[in-house]
Amino acid sequence: MRRKLVAANWKMNGSKAQTESLLNAFVAGIDAKAVDAVVFPPALYVAQVAQLLNGTGLEWGTQNVHAADNGAFTGELSLGMVKEFGCRYVLIGHSERRELFGETNADAATKVAAALNADVIPMLCVGETLQQREAGTTEAVVGEQLDAVLNEVGIEAFKRIVIAYEPVWAIGTGKTATPEQAQAVHAFIRARLAKADGDVAAQCRVLYGGSVKAANAQELFQQPDIDGGLVGGASLQADEFTAICQAAAEV
Ligand code: 13P
Repeated sequence: MRRKLVAANWKMNGSKAQTESLLNAFVAGIDAKAVDAVVFPPALYVAQVAQLLNGTGLEWGTQNVHAADNGAFTGELSLGMVKEFGCRYVLIGHSERRELFGETNADAATKVAAALNADVIPMLCVGETLQQREAGTTEAVVGEQLDAVLNEVGIEAFKRIVIAYEPVWAIGTGKTATPEQAQAVHAFIRARLAKADGDVAAQCRVLYGGSVKAANAQELFQQPDIDGGLVGGASLQADEFTAICQAAAEV
């Protein structure tokens, strides 16, 4: 039985005051015994988040990380640094990193390997653009994104990886994939892993991301291969995010 996981990706939003008010509401409104909840704030706020969430059962991480231990990489963060601030998870290969900052499948694979090596759980993001979906290449694109990581770290490592399927056309657009559309790709992802190892595939959590909100969370989370959500916009509204976590806990 895969435990549901709901993650908040705040992207480049927020402030110290907003961090405090959102987290106070999350701690009060999320049952950490019933659902795994993870917050990905902008890196500058991780120390504040660590302080506010320490001991609450809610977890946190960074939105990106560099694979190297240290060195001349201006603007980057190492896994040693994120671990020092209690991050249990890191987001890797988010579509905005891929599209806006040129990250490749090979970069994602290197970062996933480094995170595993540091004992931090990678949340690997995959997903197709609208153009790719319309061209009928969704499975080819997502398959390639997955294979790059599989080839680098091997199937066993997927026991310690969380996958987030985020169709790019559904991110920040208000246009959620239908539960059936999402389920189809989730099933494809699980089948791809199962080709390498059925037990690992059955254990690996695959989250859906892309305009998840309180109003659509339940029907998404009811799908057999959807194990939770990666939430952007709605994670900046306390009532929305806590309701999404509640929906995950109840499914
Ligand atoms: P939205 O929930 O705003 O569509 O963002 C999804 C996302 O990119 C989470 O990583």
